Amino acid sequence: MHTAYLEAKRAIDDRSINRTVWDAMVRLVADSGGDVVRIAEIGAGTGTMIDRLRDWGALGPDGVAGRTATYDAWEMNPDTAAVLAERTAASEFARAEVHVGDLREWTGDAHFDLVIAHAVLDLFSPQEVAALMDRLLTDRGVLYASIVFDGVTLMEPAIDAEIDDKVLRLYHRSMRQGFGRRQLWHLWDAGFEIVATGSSDWVIPPRRNGPRPEERELVGTILEMMRGAVTGQLEAGASSNGDLTVERLNRWIDQRHRQLQAGDLFFAAHQIDFVARR
Ligand SMILES: C[S@@+](CC[C@H](N)C(=O)[O-])C[C@H]1O[C@@H](n2cnc3c(N)ncnc32)[C@H](O)[C@@H]1O
Repeated sequence: MHTAYLEAKRAIDDRSINRTVWDAMVRLVADSGGDVVRIAEIGAGTGTMIDRLRDWGALGPDGVAGRTATYDAWEMNPDTAAVLAERTAASEFARAEVHVGDLREWTGDAHFDLVIAHAVLDLFSPQEVAALMDRLLTDRGVLYASIVFDGVTLMEPAIDAEIDDKVLRLYHRSMRQGFGRRQLWHLWDAGFEIVATGSSDWVIPPRRNGPRPEERELVGTILEMMRGAVTGQLEAGASSNGDLTVERLNRWIDQRHRQLQAGDLFFAAHQIDFVARR
């Protein structure tokens, strides 16, 4: 499921990634000097970023901007990491290593010119991110963060305005880690320069013939994540939630699934991309 979700998400990420921010990252890396470009990716999933680097012209047979490039990736899910290892093996990197496990437990001391964090930064607290970047980046190293969830989800049509609000509020509250703007603020406070930023929202429109397969997979998975997260909040007693019970929540999620299948749902998640440099 995890791998299928990541591969479906890929098509929607492709149309959502902010290309102005991407171009700023590519320019900075091209100008960074040195014979070798050392790239790290955290929470790399199946390695879709390797394909993007190639497909969007940043990675070629000669490496990055004509310089040899190396790639170290961290991925804690072993099934996902296996797909990632296949992608790295077929890549243009002069050296590529997949570290299977939790990045937080890594004890190495390598430094990188570019750290990529795609659709993963919001799983870390802002304090953790700043400390990790201090550890991983060279003096002029660059963090490229994309698809960083910023704590806003929109769904229409309304089912019941009050319940709609409560479900989304509890869903967002369940994500204790850093939303995008909090990551930005914390890096700024820690002395990083925010070189480029822009939005990268996922927007899934209503469709007369039903959702595209990748939209069905993405939004369907998010609805189930929402069911789990909000149930957890309700069971942990996060209520003053009046009418919102687990039973009501289940009916609400089921109805959203029906709207999705019928192509009658507008879904958007607000996300940001940014480039930060020390
Ligand atoms: C939402 S997925 C995004 C994956 C990939 N970047 C993509 O968008 O296709 C987040 C990934 O980060 C991995 N992950 C989360 N925390 C991690 C950690 N502390 N160390 C290594 N991997 C981590 C998860 O296993 C998951 O595959």
